[in-house]
Amino acid sequence: MSASIGLGKIILLGEHAVVYGYPALAAALDRGVAVGAVPTPAGGTLRVEIAAWDLKVSVTDEHPVAQAMVALADELGLGRPSITLVGDAQIPPGAGLGSSAALAVAAARALLVRTRGKADPASVARAASASEHVMHGRASGIDVALALGGGIGVFRKSTGLRSFACSALRVLVGPSGASRSTAAMVERVAHETQSRVDDARLRELGGLTDTGAEALVAGALPDLGAAMDRAHAILADLGVSTGQLDELCSTARAAGAYGAKLTGAGGGGAVIAIAPREHEAAILSAWKRAGVTGFVTVVGGGAA
Ligand code: PMV
Repeated sequence: MSASIGLGKIILLGEHAVVYGYPALAAALDRGVAVGAVPTPAGGTLRVEIAAWDLKVSVTDEHPVAQAMVALADELGLGRPSITLVGDAQIPPGAGLGSSAALAVAAARALLVRTRGKADPASVARAASASEHVMHGRASGIDVALALGGGIGVFRKSTGLRSFACSALRVLVGPSGASRSTAAMVERVAHETQSRVDDARLRELGGLTDTGAEALVAGALPDLGAAMDRAHAILADLGVSTGQLDELCSTARAAGAYGAKLTGAGGGGAVIAIAPREHEAAILSAWKRAGVTGFVTVVGGGAA
């Protein structure tokens, strides 16, 4: 059984503003979710099992993943096939690292390969988007684009992901362990900004994406770090940071990071930092002392 893959992601800059049409700088992780499709024993209904997440659901269960899989199967026009999707995950769930989109892309690919012999990207994208709509409500589509295509790029709702080439970037990722709801955080920002696209904070987040992307392409990592620090402050002002996330970012800066911020919806989830290589170990140790097991992921580095 060959596995179908969906990649996790980080947002380097522009989360939340991206929901309002501004650009976000985001990259696929070098890890994600792998899923294979096998017949469900005794001809039962569509099921999902991801041991790494302690997840075992059938589409008839009252569970968000079950409802997401129903949307996915409906979008593919597959009904409720007698298939079990068995997966392995190298990213934590609910941490703002795109786990649900990674699962949806891997699941859609596995279902299509099993039932139709091949998985065309357009169908996978539509099915994964339907699944993300159930999980996240007003999702921008950024997670699905990266889970599907990989790479690094600037994403806009209007144009999708525009990938570009840049040198490989090492990013420290610190999953806080605190769960959160993307939909609740998106609602909080809507309330805070009264959904006004011209809110100065959303505009500034969009501008920081442009500055940060230029810095990344030029290899000016201190400038990228400064943009990340500023973005974190704005996100905190919008009410989506937490004391723990602020602390993890301060710790990373004190240990030598160029910059640090929450990534994804906030309210919990993960922080990211970029740093000179010689400071990475100190940052990971400082996070460890704060109870967080971080890791280094390498993003970009390939062709556009
Ligand atoms: O689900 P998360 O934590 O990766 O957040 C997604 C980023 C948001 O901008 C907050 C929402 C979206 O759909 O773009």
